[in-house]
Amino acid sequence: MAIDYAQKIPNNVNLADDRTLQRALEQWQPNFINWWDDVGPENTTDSDVYLRTATSVDPQGWAHFDFVKMRDYRWGIFLNPGDANRQIQFGDHKGETAWQDVPGEHRANLRRIIVTQGDTEPASVEQQRHLGLTAPSMYDLRNLFQINVEEGRHLWAMVYLLQKFFGRDGREEAGALLERTSGDADNPRILGAFNEKTPDWLAFFMFTYFTDRDGKFQLAALAESAFDPLARTTKFMLTEEAHHMFVGESGVSRVLQRTAHVMNELKSDDPKTIREAGAIDLPTIQRYLNFHYSVTIDLFGADQSSNAATFYSSGLKGRYEEGKRVDDHVLKGQTYKVLEVRNGQLGEKEVPMLNALNEVLRDDFIKDSVAGVGRWNKVLEKAGIPTRLVVPHKAFNRRIGALAGIRMSPEGQVVSEAEWTQREADWLPTASDRAFVSSLMGRVVEPGKFANWIAPPAMGINKQPVDFEYVRFG
Ligand SMILES: [Fe+2]
Ligand SMILES: [Fe+2]
Repeated sequence: MAIDYAQKIPNNVNLADDRTLQRALEQWQPNFINWWDDVGPENTTDSDVYLRTATSVDPQGWAHFDFVKMRDYRWGIFLNPGDANRQIQFGDHKGETAWQDVPGEHRANLRRIIVTQGDTEPASVEQQRHLGLTAPSMYDLRNLFQINVEEGRHLWAMVYLLQKFFGRDGREEAGALLERTSGDADNPRILGAFNEKTPDWLAFFMFTYFTDRDGKFQLAALAESAFDPLARTTKFMLTEEAHHMFVGESGVSRVLQRTAHVMNELKSDDPKTIREAGAIDLPTIQRYLNFHYSVTIDLFGADQSSNAATFYSSGLKGRYEEGKRVDDHVLKGQTYKVLEVRNGQLGEKEVPMLNALNEVLRDDFIKDSVAGVGRWNKVLEKAGIPTRLVVPHKAFNRRIGALAGIRMSPEGQVVSEAEWTQREADWLPTASDRAFVSSLMGRVVEPGKFANWIAPPAMGINKQPVDFEYVRFG
């Protein structure tokens, strides 16, 4: 499964043996580069960046680090090794051999799943395109760029599937993935969270912590797919995704470290005092968390969904860690609790589990998210700060599903429209919070130097020192 870098498009799928596909992808490649130049990371053409590139799909030592100009990054097609005897683990086809091709009856649904996943990848690059101009350090700048090129590669991963297995429809979808634009009024990205702005680095760290983690759960569910090429593609994407979430988790940790330090130095927890010292006060961090968390859990879709049931029963999309679960993996006749609003009050009801699989995945995501928030709180605890960050109630600020119509406090109390209006500024970032955070965003790119609002990381990338020259500006 070595990756062939002699090809115009690096790959481990024997692309050279499939001339039609190779031609289609080579035609798409310049459009991808145009897209990168137009809406990819701003002002980066001449910089050499210390980037990781996949050299094999072996989990041990799969990547290689070197200086590359980003637009020359070797985006390619890498699938995890296959197993010709792999069996489908769940749904109505459980126990049958996994598919190497797309069954006609599942074609439309599979295409939709792949397009929806594929659309998020370039979207995040677009959302993050200005952040390089305000990086808090050269180390952070490099991490941003690493994420950007890998999201670009994730787009390639989905475009490969579309072009190889979906004929002319696939080619059209591959083109459309470069035409929609995050936040565009006429032709936006498919999912809500991917049309929001990522205007500052606190938002970026929250995004990579929460929204890239949505990516992890979606990819993990697709890694169970009966459609084997999708399973193998997403497995390799998960390897790359881990770094994105690391950037978010460690980024917020470092912000908290700095804030706690300033709070202790000034013996104050007054937001105004902390802000005047150039650090980000804890209530603002909590409001950012509330926003990114609630927008991200919407990505899992409606709490009850017949599509989710169809995707599962037909073997297209499994559950997170399907193989570790001890039920029958068919789920007929089983139930799951979802929230509902009855007479203005929140209650629970039991629904068929197959219809609640979006909620099942959302709840798995929530558990994983909460664990990391606990690690953030350790930073505060260690510094002797009594405040703790918390994730808001699942029904807070929702736009999708049964909870969309309800006003809810982060603690989980249903509130009136009037109370919401009065309290919203305590719960979600205000324009003045965002203006304050953005006022801190100056570009710091001297090796080893860090902006005042964030602590340095504990170590550098790939065993390089923290003050390594990660980006050489051309
Ligand atoms: Fe991705
Ligand atoms: Fe990611």
